[in-house]
Amino acid sequence: MKVRFGIIGGGLMGRELASAMARWFMLTNFPSQVELVAVADIAPRVLEWFRQVPSVDLLTTEYRELLARDDVDAVYVAVPHDLHEQVYVDTLAAGKDLLAEKPFGIDLRAALRIQSAIGERFVRCSSEFPFFPAAQGVYEFVSSEEIGDLLEVNSAFLHSSDLDLTKPINWKRQSVHCGEAGVMNDLGLHVLHVPLRMGYRPTNVFAQLQNVVRERPDGAGGRAPCDTWDNATVHANLEGGGIMRLETKRLAPGETNTWSIEVKGTRGGAKFSTKEPKTLWTSRGGSAQWSREDIGHKSVIPVATGGIFEFGFPDALLQMLAAFVAERNGHLEGRFGCATVDEALDAHRVWTAALESQRSHKAVPL
Ligand SMILES: NC(=O)c1ccc[n+]([C@@H]2O[C@H](COP(=O)([O-])OP(=O)(O)OC[C@H]3O[C@@H](n4cnc5c(N)ncnc54)[C@H](O)[C@@H]3O)[C@@H](O)[C@H]2O)c1
Repeated sequence: MKVRFGIIGGGLMGRELASAMARWFMLTNFPSQVELVAVADIAPRVLEWFRQVPSVDLLTTEYRELLARDDVDAVYVAVPHDLHEQVYVDTLAAGKDLLAEKPFGIDLRAALRIQSAIGERFVRCSSEFPFFPAAQGVYEFVSSEEIGDLLEVNSAFLHSSDLDLTKPINWKRQSVHCGEAGVMNDLGLHVLHVPLRMGYRPTNVFAQLQNVVRERPDGAGGRAPCDTWDNATVHANLEGGGIMRLETKRLAPGETNTWSIEVKGTRGGAKFSTKEPKTLWTSRGGSAQWSREDIGHKSVIPVATGGIFEFGFPDALLQMLAAFVAERNGHLEGRFGCATVDEALDAHRVWTAALESQRSHKAVPL
């Protein structure tokens, strides 16, 4: 079965998803095919890049033209957060399935309005890091209940490029486009996807949010206000015991796109960081020892890539897109799937409570 895709928003992520589609032949015995047929972006220079993709026969600055086409089955939308609600709702109203980008609406209210427009459509939200093989290793280790009673979950996504104070402002650093939750909107679903899938539900949230860089060059010789939260550290108590620390940071010295997850219990634990992309750490039987194992290219959806080779960001995106297509077409067969709409909404609930906690300096119940 072939799924014909459109992309709305051909920036950083639109190009990444186009590239994932172009590598489809690496999937082994995968019954569904994909084809990128149309791309919409308001910037003509962004559209030019997609002329390299032979299957694309519509490049348009008007996304509704893409949605009007009968030969588009599903749409990947990667636009600034303030546009999510309108573009997602229009996509669903046009009868298309949707691979949405996080945070799935600029805030919880927008996310709920998108949810109410879904109807019969198949909708998932982008979150690719759990598809790293060693992240899957953590998930499987924890699911097998080898950790005993849960002690703590630490989940983080860290960047450092904002430490460069000469970096010009962009939409991700402006509340009006990124949302009041700032860095939590940007990086938050990435840190909550796996804990939520593991069944860890916060009962209350205490947040420490920092807006350190308050203005940036505007790219035209002047200065512009930078009014989003740069760093967020959010502490939660979990249903059934255990605590969770969630970190989303743009000002984290020494870190470039470092995604990590660590789960510890009374009988052991497991951890993974993209800093060591092939390494799964586990501790068993309540011992004082952590063991490391090199995990090769052991992917959720089998691929032709040699099993000894390292896994990277483009591989994770290919896996995520393949999981979307497999689930849509009914052949995911119990394997790890993309973030669901409920998970995206739960993430918004946590960040909404975190904002309230920052205002009140108190733990906020969920
Ligand atoms: N999954 C991930 O790892 C990941 C990484 C980065 C960003 N994102 C998410 O992807 C989305 C886009 O982020 P990005 O980094 O690609 O941003 P970007 O700024 O690089 O690209 C956004 C594109 O949207 C286009 N656009 C703006 N308004 C439009 C409209 N009305 N119609 C069509 N196109 C329009 C812009 O011209 C731009 O090319 C956001 O939701 C962001 O949170 C996800």
